Formats: sequence, structure tokens, C-alpha cells
Amino acid sequence: MINVAILGYGVIGSGTYKVITQNQDIVKGNAGDAVQVKAVLDLREFPGSPVEDILTHDFNDILNDDEIDIVVEVMGGTGAAYKFVKASLEAGKSVVTSNKALVAAYGPELIRIAREKNINFMFEASVGGGIPIIRPLISCITADEILEITGILNGTTNFILTDMYEEGSEFEPVLKQAQANGFAEADPTADIEGHDACRKIAILTALAEGQFVDFEDIPCRGITGISAEDIAYAKALGKKIKLLASTRYSGGNIYSEVSPCMIDSSNPLYAVDGVMNAVLVKGNMLGDIMFYGAGAGSLPTASAVVSDIVACCRHMHENIPVRMDPEKLTVHDPAELKDRYFIRVSADADIASKVPCECEITIPDAEGEKAVITKAIAGAELKDLEGIISCIKVR
Ligand code: HSE
Repeated sequence: MINVAILGYGVIGSGTYKVITQNQDIVKGNAGDAVQVKAVLDLREFPGSPVEDILTHDFNDILNDDEIDIVVEVMGGTGAAYKFVKASLEAGKSVVTSNKALVAAYGPELIRIAREKNINFMFEASVGGGIPIIRPLISCITADEILEITGILNGTTNFILTDMYEEGSEFEPVLKQAQANGFAEADPTADIEGHDACRKIAILTALAEGQFVDFEDIPCRGITGISAEDIAYAKALGKKIKLLASTRYSGGNIYSEVSPCMIDSSNPLYAVDGVMNAVLVKGNMLGDIMFYGAGAGSLPTASAVVSDIVACCRHMHENIPVRMDPEKLTVHDPAELKDRYFIRVSADADIASKVPCECEITIPDAEGEKAVITKAIAGAELKDLEGIISCIKVR
């Protein structure tokens, strides 16, 4: 019997309990031993729930219980979560987490402690919810030079943008729906301003490079500035607006960003709608591959958490190597790269004389203005343009 403790009985914690209990035979078969939840830590009470009798409010009950082999941290944040995860690893317990903020901030240190203790620190659910992407990056795509990683990595914003596109909805009510569905972060600022996706692309880039990436070095723009008119233009141009988290490699440099982008149907990410996430990876031998699935939600995320528990069971006193050296990787600003841009200006603006444009469009939903798509230009060329109503990268 392998005993697990769950820190946090919220959306993912309760999902983890459900996956372990409902799929116990499958989990046992894959883990090589039965897995049971021995304790759940939460400040709240859950009368009448299945964890009522194993609930504790004191982390020390878990830390000092030698029968608990694996700690699952699904509390979120970097305060108590960091303290509890570090203490668990130092006590020789493997840790599984879905907490991207924790991995993005403390990944190298926690990975090192796990290596020194010959146990595991696993975080598949921290990026892309239920989509296997961490394990493929670490264990499968190991023969390629990675040329690009671009993903739709936030379910909440993709849900909002999809609804705005399909239903013509306003931003606020769709955000409320995402919160009610349990996708959005407790503070949805992290979703809508792109911070959540930023931490996720930092983690993926760090794993691809084997070196720490500071998410604060990554230019990050969310979707709060996207209007119904921007969406109407995108539709008229046969495109959609998606919040892309992207790392590109060019001229020996690494360029990362989070930004709303217009993409057309030739881009594999075009069809990724609603709460779904996807990650497109380009390898120099492999070509393009895409990982697609539910990027948020209780059971899909819990499925990834329990897969990590199974991996810990299979490698109980054996560290699975993960490279994330602590020295910070230099990440460049993609404004240095040449990209096309969608730009809205007033109808009488002479934008074509200032930047090279490949097309101009007007739509009935936006009177008194027009939009252009530029040819590929460096972002710096946009700095001195005046009277821009909105500007969105075209990928
Ligand atoms: N708030 C996140 C999202 C949850 O919407 O994708 C999964 O990380």
C-alpha cells in the first residue's frame, strides 16, 4: 500500500481524491501497488464528505507520518505551498504538484532537493492541465534541437475569446462563467493579464533548455484590451484571436512572450477553442507535433496529478532526472524579431506611408476607422506610430 497526502481539498484536490478512489484498480495496476489517500490538509471543514475522517488542519500530522510516501500539493501560491513542499522533500517524501507559480519560482531548488534525496518532484499538471507535455519534453523529445514552443496555455482566456468570437459575448459575463466552472484562478487577474500563461511558457522553456527561466523576463500582455471590434476584424479577415505563449529560437537567441495574436486556419492552434489548451512543438528533426486536451478543470488536471503519483510509485527510491539548472537563461524580447501586425487607425490616417502594409480593410462594425496588416517588421518600428486604436501580432 502506498499512502498519499493531499494538501488542499479544492477543485484539483477533490478531483485527485476522486480519480484515486474511482479508478483505484487501474491506478493499482499501473502503480504496481494499491494507492490510498491517508490524509487531506485543509483549513476548512468538509462535513459529510468522503475525506471527513482523514482531514487535518496541521501539516505536521503529514510531515511526521512515516507511512506517507507521497505528498500532493494542490493548494496553489508560493507561501505555505513552498514551505510544505520543501519540508516534504527534505523529509524524503516525493511531491506531486499542479502549482505552476511554485514550479516557475522555485523549480531548480525543489528539483535539486528531490535529486539529492533520491525521490521525485513532479509537476505534469502545472502546464496544460490534463495534457501530457512535461513528460514528453523531458523524456521523449530528447533527440531534437527545439525550434519553437507555442501554446494556448490558459483555458480561461481561451474560453473567453472563443465565446466572444462565437456568441459576440462581452468580456465580463464570460469571465464569471469561467470562474463558476472552476477554470479561472482565485484571482482571475493572473488569467486575463497573461501571468498564468507566462509562468507556464517559462516552465516549458526551462525544461527544453535545462535551465531556469525567470517569468518576469518574459514580455507579457493579456486579453483585457481585446474588444468586440478587434474580434469582428479578425472574423472579417478569416482569423481568430488567441492568447499565445510562445518561445522561438532565432540566430542563437531565445525569444519568449505572451501576447494575443491573430492566427488563420492554416495554424494548428486555430481550431483549439473553449477551455481546451494545446502546445505546438517544432523540432529540427521531428517537425511539428501538437499536444491537445483539457487545459483546466478538476478531473483532467487531477488525471495528470495521479499519473505523476503513479510515476512516483514506479520510481519509489529512484530519482527520475529533470534538468533545470539554477543559472538564469537570457530571454530576448520578440520585438527584435520581424513579425506582421494588425493595426487599427482612424479612417484618414496615412499609415501605409509609415509602415509597409500588405492589406487594408474596413468593416461595418467599426465606423470612422480602418485596419491594416503590415508586412513583417520589427516591433520597434511601431514605437513612433501615433493614433493606433489597437495593435495585435499576426502569426
Ligand atoms: N486558470 C488556469 C486556466 C487553470 O484557466 O488555464 C489551469 O492552470
